[in-house]
Parts: sequence; C-alpha cells; structure tokens
Amino acid sequence: MSDGNDKHPQLRSRSWFDDPANPDMTALYVERYLNYGLSLEELQSGRPIIGIAQTGSDLVPCNRHHIELAKRVREGIRDAGGIAIEFPVHPIQETGKRPTAGLDRNLSYLSLVESLYGYPMDGVVLTIGCDKTTPACLMAAATVNIPAIALSVGPMLNGWFKGERTGSGTIVWKAREMLAAGEIDYKGFVELVASSAPSTGWCNTMGTATTMNSLCEALGMSLPGSAAIPAPYRDRGENAYRTGLQIVEMVKADRKPSDILTREAFLNAIRVNSAIGGSTNAPIHLNAIARHAGVELCLEDWQAHGCEVPLIVNLQPAGSYLGEDFYRAGGVPAVMGMLLNAGLLEGDVLTANGKTVRENVAGAECLDADVIRPLDNPLKQAAGLTVLSGNLFDTAVMKLSVISDEFRSRYLSDASDPDAFEGTAIVFDGPEDYHTRIDDPALGANEKSILIMRGAGPIGYPGGAEVVNMRPPATLIQAGIHALPCLGDGRQSGTSGSPSILNAAPEAAIGGGLALVRTGDPVRIDLGKRTANMLVSREELERRREELELTPDYVPASQTPWQEIHRNITGQFDGGAVIELAVKYQRIAQTRGLPRDSH
Ligand code: FES
Ligand code: MG
Repeated sequence: MSDGNDKHPQLRSRSWFDDPANPDMTALYVERYLNYGLSLEELQSGRPIIGIAQTGSDLVPCNRHHIELAKRVREGIRDAGGIAIEFPVHPIQETGKRPTAGLDRNLSYLSLVESLYGYPMDGVVLTIGCDKTTPACLMAAATVNIPAIALSVGPMLNGWFKGERTGSGTIVWKAREMLAAGEIDYKGFVELVASSAPSTGWCNTMGTATTMNSLCEALGMSLPGSAAIPAPYRDRGENAYRTGLQIVEMVKADRKPSDILTREAFLNAIRVNSAIGGSTNAPIHLNAIARHAGVELCLEDWQAHGCEVPLIVNLQPAGSYLGEDFYRAGGVPAVMGMLLNAGLLEGDVLTANGKTVRENVAGAECLDADVIRPLDNPLKQAAGLTVLSGNLFDTAVMKLSVISDEFRSRYLSDASDPDAFEGTAIVFDGPEDYHTRIDDPALGANEKSILIMRGAGPIGYPGGAEVVNMRPPATLIQAGIHALPCLGDGRQSGTSGSPSILNAAPEAAIGGGLALVRTGDPVRIDLGKRTANMLVSREELERRREELELTPDYVPASQTPWQEIHRNITGQFDGGAVIELAVKYQRIAQTRGLPRDSH
C-alpha cells in the first residue's frame, strides 16, 4: 500500500489545493476543506482526492445501503493513499419519483458533470443501484472522463410468500391480475407485494437495476464479480473496500472511462444483456452512455450483435429465480466466461482493475446449472431484442425472450409464416385513460386485441413512463387470457414479462405514427421482416395527419421548470433520450482544460 507520499504533479486537485503560483486562491480553497477537520498536510500531501458520488438517501431506499458502504469505500481509499470526499447526487428513485424517474436521469447527469468537473476531484467512486442511477453516473463519468469506478449496492435478498419466491415488480404484475380476478383483496395485494422487498438493496428480479448493474460490470466499469452480490451480504462490504483501493490505483495509472468504454466493450454488454434476459430499458441507457463517451452505437447494433444470443440466466420475469440465486450460481463472471468460451465476447478489452475481460473471467465457474444454464441448454434461443419499424414508428424494440407459445398461436395470421401476427388495436391516450376504460365492457377487447399506449414517451410524459405493460380486462383474465401484446411510445418495467413493443420513436407527442392509429385498426407484426404496421391506407393516414392537432390533449402542460426545459432539449429513445446539446461535450477534463477560478 502507498504511504501517500508520492507526488502526482498531474493531479487536477493540486490546482485547487497546492498552487504556489496562486497563493490567494489556494488559501481560499484550502481553508474551507479544513473546516471539518482535514489537515493542511493531507490536502497538500499529493494524495489523490477521490469523490464518492453518493446516490443513496432516505428518498432512494434502493441505494440507501450505500450510506453504510461508503464507510468501507473510504477505508479502501485511505489505505491506498487517497483522501475521500463524499457528496450527494441528485436523487433518482424509480418507483417513488413522479411523474417519472426518467426525467431525473438527465438532470442527475447534468449535476454530476458539474460536480465532477467543477470541484477538486482526481477520481470518483460512483455508487450505483436503482435503475437510472447507473446510467446517470456512467454518462457523467463518460463526459468528464476522470478515473471512475462504479460500486453496485446489490440486490435485495430473495422475497418469499407461502414458500414461493416473490420478485420485485414481477409480483406486482401478478398480484394485479389476481386482484382483477377476485383471488385477493386490497390488503392481500399490498401484503403479497411487500413480501418481495425483505431487505435493503435494489429489485431482486432481472429488472432494470440488475440489468444495468450487470452491464456496468460487463462494460468493465466495476470490479469483476461485483454486480450480483446481495446488498446485505458481508461480501458487499468487502467489495466496497476493494473498490476504494482500486480507484486510487486507477488515478495513479491514469486509467479513465475512455480507456474502458470502447465500442468492443459496448458490444460485449449487448451480448451479456441477451444472455441475462436484460431489461428493454438497457438499449436506451447503454446508447446514452455510448453517445456521451463518443462511441458509435445504435439500435441496429442490438439487433446485429445481441439478437441471436440465447437466454441462459433463469431469473424472473423470464425465468424462476432471484438475485441471491444468481450470485450463488456465479453471477456475471460465470455468464461472461461461458460467452467468452463460445466466442461470443471480445476478451481483450481493458477493465477498471487494469486487467482484460479474459483475465477477469478466467476460472469463473457456474455453480448451479439451473440458475445459469449452459449455452447448449438455454431457457430460450435467440433471446435478444429485435428492432422493428413501420408506419407506427421508425424504431421500437421487442424482447424476444418474453414471447410465449400462447402468443405465437393466438395471433398467428397465416399458418405458412410462423413469424407474422395480426391483431386489432385498442388505443389508450395515457395511463389514466387505460385505468378508466380497461374494464369497461364498451372497450370491446378480445383475445386478438393489441393494447396500444401513446403519450408516454420522453417528451409526452416527460422522461418516458413505464406504463406500456397493461393487463387484459378482468373478464379476459377470468377466461384464462393472462396477457395481451402491448405496444407504445413509453417504456416497460424490466420486471414485466409482457410481450410488448416498446420505446417507439418518434413518439406520438411529436407527431410519430402512433398519433395516427385508432381503435379498431388492424395491426400486423412481422418478426421475420422486423416490421409493425397499422393496415391502413396511405390516403387515410394522410387524412388523419391533416386532422392531427399539433399538441394533443394527452400531452398535459409542464408542471415544473425542469419538465419544460427537458421537453425542449431531450431526444428520442432510439438515441438514448439524452440532452442532445450535451453530446458534443466529450472528455471535458482533457478537452476543455480546468475550470476558471471561482474568485
Ligand atoms: Fe429501485 Fe427497482 S425500484 S431498484
Ligand atoms: Mg421501472
């Protein structure tokens, strides 16, 4: 371990704390960081100053355990010769934030860029967990490009109810069907759902949180083996300590996000996403991180590199198990080891610990072949995302792993083509409309209906709402129909197993094709041709477009200043729904010099 005495003239924190050419500013910067007990010797010792970007709080229960873990991170930083400075990140909590947590991802990104760039930090530990905390942190680290490593908080312990596993989110979608079918009451509903959250940590299913933390590890931005460790396990505290040690080494080696976040690393993450059955939010977030990193990545890459990869991780919603099982079976290194051995990963990419993917996963073993299946006995073949287009949208994604045999047989349009499906549109203008009408007999839904949700995209429902997964009317559930295909310009929770077509771009609120569809229109989805179309004549669609008002009433007025600002600066889901003008600010710690003095 370092004695902390080796000087690092290149450290950016020196220009705040130890600049003999600028004594009045140095004094001004130093005095305030002394006021809580740091010493002048420490601040001028040449030790790297390491930020701990704290995303946990009472508002963000998923990440709250980071408040404890940060103590172990500090000990690691100190033992390796650094000085830790912990600071808050604008909160993002997926379920509690209204109208959407998506709205806060870009806000959190912006504020973290300002913090990392504008304060004396030489490196940073990003505390990640709840869905959008991971992309927000990685996007900011990519933009600023100082050495950065992520620490996952870990999933909750497995939930149990009457001897069965209850998984975050997934149990909500099941309980809502049970409530609609009259099998449970309100109290039973809440009890069943609460059983899925037995401890601190993030959603224990393969929802967006497990997905994005796994992909962060696959990208090489966290320590190997770190994503799957459940939050309360002792290994998690040890992992926090090792992460603290590692970031100081990274600063000394000047290993930055730009050295790790290469196109090959992103393609690896896309393949891992298919193998784990990752969330449909992953392309939005990964594409966003890539754009801020200056790496070419688009939806077609998901189709080209991820689509054919089989699903091998047997976690809910596509499978049976939960987070603790995934960890015990070997977690992300076991998955990556299998993919690498099958020639499905690039092994020679650098990761945060200075080793390659190949070195990191050498010797990784699968310890439970039912939780992580062998590639020749997967849960599903070709389980990635497929990218569709047509007159309903330019792009949308569909998770192939959730398409059931029941769906295949019910919507098959002609026996000669197993990939062509037809149904009839039922259109909802926002989730309120859906909740009001779903059980109305006048809705006319049947077993060949396709439920369409519009007004739920990044502009219409600012940030993009996870409202596309809709349940069938209660009468259909009682008749044994548990899912209807859903399609929309919003997102779907990663914990939902609905066969949905999501993230449609451009969205209805800015005049995308979904703005023209009407209840009763026949809709054809051809997975072979990768198309989704309303079977409506061109003339009729032109007539409908002429009638279209520019801002339909399902796009309500902004309620906060940020909602309005966001609507004016944010792009569509296919481009990661990033702040478009931010993309040109790349590697700013190197390309834009130091910020000017504050006084
Ligand atoms: Fe925060 Fe799922 S709601 S991790
Ligand atoms: Mg969600």
